[in-house]
Amino acid sequence: MTSFTTLTTVLLLAATNAISAHARALDIRDVTTSSKAGLAWPNGNGENIKQYESGKVSWYYTWSPNCIDIAASLECVPMLWGTDQENAFNSTIESTIDSYSVKAVLAFNEPNEMGQSNLSPEDAASMWKQYLEPLRSSKNVRLGSPAPSSNPDGVTWIQDFLNACEGGCTVDFIALHYYDVNATEFQSYITNYHNLFGKPIWVTEWACQNFNGGAQCSDEAIKEFMNQTESFMDATDFVERYAWFGAFRNLQGVNPDDALMDQNGKITALGDQYIGNQTSSGGGSSAAVALHVSVFTYVLATFVALLVLL
Ligand SMILES: *[C@@H]1O[C@H](CO)[C@@H](O)[C@H](O)[C@H]1NC(C)=O
Ligand SMILES: *[C@@H]1O[C@H](CO)[C@@H](O)[C@H](O)[C@H]1NC(C)=O
Ligand SMILES: *[C@@H]1O[C@H](CO)[C@@H](O)[C@H](O)[C@H]1NC(C)=O
Ligand SMILES: *[C@@H]1O[C@H](CO)[C@@H](O)[C@H](O)[C@H]1NC(C)=O
Repeated sequence: MTSFTTLTTVLLLAATNAISAHARALDIRDVTTSSKAGLAWPNGNGENIKQYESGKVSWYYTWSPNCIDIAASLECVPMLWGTDQENAFNSTIESTIDSYSVKAVLAFNEPNEMGQSNLSPEDAASMWKQYLEPLRSSKNVRLGSPAPSSNPDGVTWIQDFLNACEGGCTVDFIALHYYDVNATEFQSYITNYHNLFGKPIWVTEWACQNFNGGAQCSDEAIKEFMNQTESFMDATDFVERYAWFGAFRNLQGVNPDDALMDQNGKITALGDQYIGNQTSSGGGSSAAVALHVSVFTYVLATFVALLVLL
């Protein structure tokens, strides 16, 4: 009898533990607002964003002031891309912040590139003061810096921008882009930005892409580069968020093998890797494994406990 009672107690404890492990595993979705991975999403409502929703992806931006309706579980981060969007941004941003519970807003896209938002630090500073700075107090949002390309003049551009602001621009985090092929150099690059400006970092575009005339990355090299850079950022406190380039069909001159979406609009194998769904490559994400193990333990323990009690 004593040993029966002990056995039953042990089994009930095991079942209780399994249930709480199960609850913890299910909670993974609830922590999405604090996970770092996001989507660089220019597709509007026209593509299936739900296939990217996972515990690992918590947010997206659209290179515009617009949020989309079909991504209710992901946090939207609107952007003032450049002068082209001034009016659209100004007339919609307040209602967008309210409707989509916006917590952060991004600023100018690659202002140091003539083919992108192409802004002088002085013009950017005056646009910032007009359209962005007021939102911090009126709407309680955090503001991301203009996002320079990884052209070496990016650091100087940000320094000149901050000088031109004369203390009137509150940058809550530095946003930046990175295109190259070496994960170690990626780490030094973003660490340098963090050390120089003393702010958290958001990498709002990055990919394994050679813009210096060298060979493009192979599929294997891309997988490895993504794994190493993503692991580094997941483990590094000063990196708040990141978004790979990109979740759309036409990568506009970036190595198409970096795409997270294929030509039919479906998530690629690289996309599965990005969102932490590694079942396709045989492994099974640790979250999925934890869930299956805990459900199995729970069922088994309950079954045995019932047997013993009967
Ligand atoms: C921005 O929008 C506000 C109203 O939301 C308006 O009062 C203001 O004039 C606009 N500013 C510009 C520069 O368009
Ligand atoms: C990547 O960069 C690091 C640091 O510059 C260098 O030591 C390493 O050899 C590079 N790796 C490759 C594969 O080029
Ligand atoms: C990187 O690869 C390792 C080994 O396959 C895996 O355990 C880890 O989850 C991967 N990390 C990311 C961020 O994909
Ligand atoms: C993960 O990938 C596999 C294989 O591509 C797919 O069948 C499964 O639906 C995916 N799971 C999630 C959660 O996306």
